[in-house]
Amino acid sequence: MGIGSFEYPPMQFVEANGARIPAIGLGTWELRGRTCARLVEQAVRLGYRHIDTAQVYDNEREVGDGLRASGVRRDDVFVTTKVWTTHFAPHDLERSTRESLVKLRLPEVDLLLLHWPNPHVPLAETLGALVHVKKLGMCRHIGVSNFTVALIDEAVAACPEPLVCDQVEYHPYLDQSKVRQACARHGMTVVAYSPVAKGRIKNDQTLARIGRAHGKSAAQVCLRWLVQQDVCAIPRTSRIERLSENIDIFDFALAAEEMEQISRMGSAKGRLTDFGFAPKWD
Ligand SMILES: NC(=O)c1ccc[n+]([C@@H]2O[C@H](COP(=O)([O-])OP(=O)(O)OC[C@H]3O[C@@H](n4cnc5c(N)ncnc54)[C@H](OP(=O)(O)O)[C@@H]3O)[C@@H](O)[C@H]2O)c1
Repeated sequence: MGIGSFEYPPMQFVEANGARIPAIGLGTWELRGRTCARLVEQAVRLGYRHIDTAQVYDNEREVGDGLRASGVRRDDVFVTTKVWTTHFAPHDLERSTRESLVKLRLPEVDLLLLHWPNPHVPLAETLGALVHVKKLGMCRHIGVSNFTVALIDEAVAACPEPLVCDQVEYHPYLDQSKVRQACARHGMTVVAYSPVAKGRIKNDQTLARIGRAHGKSAAQVCLRWLVQQDVCAIPRTSRIERLSENIDIFDFALAAEEMEQISRMGSAKGRLTDFGFAPKWD
């Protein structure tokens, strides 16, 4: 794992088990219909090269529309989708991935993730199906999401192909050092979801103060803190002006003491996500 070179428009890449992932992507949860297609198109035009969707977001069709409208070459954009837990039986996984590709109108996605752990289907079977769809050419890389340290270790041991990431909630209020260490041990990266703490960082005094010293907003400091740890982040916004703000983070660097100060804000209790079916976190 490691950070790659800068390109124009400025973008940093995180390398993990053979994947080269743009460090900032656009999250699309809750973006629907024309708004979603328009935001994806605008994001790509502004320099985003990584889009995150999922079967359960019910917007893969609109994400595909936005990608095509942007006019950017397919190979220049890293597209992730996620298989929902009800499709973890091997045949369902293959069928539902085919449906995702039809909706996206893409021959393959760059990254296909298991969206949440599902204790009702043996993990090895689901991973076998994930590797099978990769071999069929339906995705370039595979990974997991919302996996605990114990589940990451179990998945890596059971999977015949490398997993490239664990996509988990991560922002300055939530300490994810254990998951980060587990990923690093296996050459995987963390992809941070809810990276601006669902908008809560906007009013954070510490982030705002650090930002003033760099001419940046609290959100930009927060996203810079994430990518400076070799983590990818997928902030979501429904506002065009914030698309630019959230990607304009590659022209400054946080000092070691600023990084530490932000890291000290995190605790194990800082989780904002409660879907009611989450695994027991370590
Ligand atoms: N794997 C999973 O289980 C999982 C779970 C949750 C999310 N995700 C993925 O991660 C993505 C991001 O997570 P999220 O949507 O939960 O939360 P998020 O990106 O942390 O926060 C989104 C919220 O923050 C606001 N915001 C965005 N940029 C801002 C800025 N620069 N300043 C102030 N406010 C800002 C947005 O409001 P405006 O729209 O008004 O800008 C929106 O209300 C999702 O869209 C999805 O793709 C994955």
